[in-house]
Amino acid sequence: MEKFSGFYKLSIEERMKLLKSECGVTDEEAKTLLDSGALTLETANRMVENVVGATHIPLGIVPGFLVNGREYVVPMAIEEPSVIAAASKGAKLARESGGFSAEADEPVMLGQVQIVGVGKDALKKFEENRDEIYSGAKELCSQMEKYGGGLRGMGARIIESSRGSMLIAEFAVDVRDAMGANTVNTMLEGVAPLIVSKCGGKARLRILTNLALLRKARARCTWKKGILSEEEIEGVLDAYELAANDIYRCSTHNKGSMNGIDAVAVATGNDWRAVEAGAHAFAAMGGYKPLTRFYKDAKGNLVGEIELPLAVGTIGGSIKTNPVAPIALKILGVKDARELSMVMAAVGLAQNFAALRALSTEGIQAGHMKLHGANIAIIAGATPDEVEEVAARLAKDKEYSVENAKKILKELRGE
Ligand code: MEV
Repeated sequence: MEKFSGFYKLSIEERMKLLKSECGVTDEEAKTLLDSGALTLETANRMVENVVGATHIPLGIVPGFLVNGREYVVPMAIEEPSVIAAASKGAKLARESGGFSAEADEPVMLGQVQIVGVGKDALKKFEENRDEIYSGAKELCSQMEKYGGGLRGMGARIIESSRGSMLIAEFAVDVRDAMGANTVNTMLEGVAPLIVSKCGGKARLRILTNLALLRKARARCTWKKGILSEEEIEGVLDAYELAANDIYRCSTHNKGSMNGIDAVAVATGNDWRAVEAGAHAFAAMGGYKPLTRFYKDAKGNLVGEIELPLAVGTIGGSIKTNPVAPIALKILGVKDARELSMVMAAVGLAQNFAALRALSTEGIQAGHMKLHGANIAIIAGATPDEVEEVAARLAKDKEYSVENAKKILKELRGE
């Protein structure tokens, strides 16, 4: 970690030197990063439809994320100022307190087949043909078995709806290091005709659920009293209490955790919408609640915990085609998808903790406006040498407008 100390003060080129020496980033990869991701239009055109260009968002890193005794350099892709700084602060205070412990479930995804227009005996027929349906589904995901994955379970239930009875067959598939959408959806489409042939009705939806309830990750940290002041501990606890009792606050509270989790998802080429959908559905089970929990232990330390479904992969389509994702994964240095989800859970907890600490004490606007001021200075035409001075003057004036920045620039340039 010492090697990375003061990382934020280095030039981008100096930062890259460290990534090369400490994270094994090659010259070629450094070139891709310095070229803002280098997503060619040809590649972009293969990734999605109707391509007319590509857009960029900044990629930063947080070094020194201590999780299960190992220090990670965490890549985060995000356009919002202050998120990376907040994650760094949360990670630093956690490191000084002994770091995060984290764990994750096996990478098991759930998928559903919806059969409509079924008779009253559909569930009975499903059970009578259980072995055959199970073998069919198992065969359809047998390619996962050579990687240690494959079918893990199956069940069915009836949903009575205004459009009649529906048989919902559900499958649990261990997808190993993939996010798993393609594996699961292909299997579901494959097995649906077999279910219909045994149970009657008509197959409609055959799709995974983003509520990946069997694929949760958890992280925990005890921020020590002394490292945190009494005021900071009480502030975080008060802030948490509001989220636990009020949905308006809880939405923003959870957004704070997802700021960090999504930023790692985007950097590593993962489907952040899937992660978001899973997180909020999980938070809503039994009434919308915080994804994190904070309390004081017997010694007066602040304990923070997070738990959420994290369906993320380290291999697969978009991770390979995205030029930055493999580099981000290399910088992070996780060996598999489970380890990635553990680090992401720790980042979500650190991010939420840092926001609550700042919000309940000094507030977040000072830090936020500093970066905002720098952005306004750039929009007003400040050169890299001028940005800091213009941002400082904007802060002093408490007037963050492009007009003011232009006025300040004129003064600085003696025009
Ligand atoms: C801003 O993106 C996130 C925060 O609003 C989170 C929070 O309020 O806890 C700062």
